[in-house]
Amino acid sequence: MDKLIITGGVPLNGEIRISGAKNAALPILAATLLTGDKVVIGNIPHLHDITTTMELLGRMGVELMVDERMRIEVNAGSIREMFAPYELVKTMRASILVLGPLLARHGRAEVSLPGGCAIGSRPVNLHLQGLAAMGAELRVENGYVHAAAPGRLKGARLNMDMVTVTGTKNLMMAATLAEGRTVIHNAAREPEVSDLANCLISMGACIEGAGTDTIIVEGVKELHGTDYSILPDRIETGTYLVAAAITGGRVKLKSTRPELLGAVLAKLTEAGAEVTQGEDWVMLDTGGRRIKAVDVHTSPYPGFPTDMQAQFTAMNCVSRGTAAITENVFENRFMHVLELRRLGADVRLEGNTAITTGVPRLTGAPVMATDLRASASLVLAGLVAEGETHVERIYHIDRGYETIEEKLSQLGAQIRRVPS
Ligand code: EPZ
Repeated sequence: MDKLIITGGVPLNGEIRISGAKNAALPILAATLLTGDKVVIGNIPHLHDITTTMELLGRMGVELMVDERMRIEVNAGSIREMFAPYELVKTMRASILVLGPLLARHGRAEVSLPGGCAIGSRPVNLHLQGLAAMGAELRVENGYVHAAAPGRLKGARLNMDMVTVTGTKNLMMAATLAEGRTVIHNAAREPEVSDLANCLISMGACIEGAGTDTIIVEGVKELHGTDYSILPDRIETGTYLVAAAITGGRVKLKSTRPELLGAVLAKLTEAGAEVTQGEDWVMLDTGGRRIKAVDVHTSPYPGFPTDMQAQFTAMNCVSRGTAAITENVFENRFMHVLELRRLGADVRLEGNTAITTGVPRLTGAPVMATDLRASASLVLAGLVAEGETHVERIYHIDRGYETIEEKLSQLGAQIRRVPS
């Protein structure tokens, strides 16, 4: 397993390009199962989760190829089995996203239940309840969901008990080929849900309300191919903005969409950084000043994203003053706190709140990544810690950040990847 070795203390400066959004690319790759036509997808980030999804589709008999512009061409007309094995699903929970499309187009699916996860139990009960309401027959046995939909799925009125991002994506995809109208109440409003809806609409789906809490889908007989480009990754964007803020630097991020990051940009401005933006770029400049710690409460979009919580916890540890970060989405998303303490951070947990008091400096140490965004927070802390920080188990980070050491090196960071 590789590790990253970071020598901290360098204010980041320069500009880099943001990649396509992982959490839009994964459902859009699953959406290719809804048609027998060729689907071409552009701006796909080169991440381990994307590779896993391509392997999962390939094992089903789906044809995939990468063209000269690094776009992925998918043709699910050749699909021969509707099976998602545990050995793949256990490495990537988002594999559950094939369930809705397989049921909608083929009327059957056997999909391994995702196991537990470091940040919480993350059940998929709301996915299954929604599909059952649409007429699917679901049986959970030996860790697999055995699903069948004799005839077609039927449109239904779905009242989601909780806001679930992949649950909304799964049910919206299933509804595109169901008979009649489906209304999803209390739907997730994340931009990645809207990006999936836009892709489905380009395939001939009838969807209204994506991006709001009520999505209406009129089922159609079939969907056709499309050529679609993934929206930029707002969490990657936020992560590199925090990298600039935490190191006291000045960074410009291109090929992104700052309007998707309203809550995060507001908090960075509140912390005292100067944030400027254009249609497809955003820049953060600390003016060499040490920023102020900020209080954060995570919530579903358009609230402050839970996927930026770990990064802000790290930032608060070296900012002026005391602040509280409350995690309201997942029940166990503070694994990074114990590791930040190893770097000298003054941070303690009170229930689902992390209370930090900024220290003048962190000191480098070996630390261990436990999940994707916790890994990012440890890299950020290493960028500002004195001496060397060794971040172990960085396969977590490779799931969600494309070429992270290259992008950080472009900004002046002293970072290298070595086999551990
Ligand atoms: C998506 O996960 C993202 N992953 C996560 O990003 C993100 O943190 C999360 O949404 C919240 O924004 C992808 O899109 C691939 P949820 P998801 O269903 O859909 C509970 C990252 O770092 N719940 O919105 O799995 C659940 O336990 C990853 O990129 C149920 O109880 O999250 C959680 O507490 C991490 N039953 C809450 O809802 C269900 O059936 C929100 O989960 C579904 C969810």
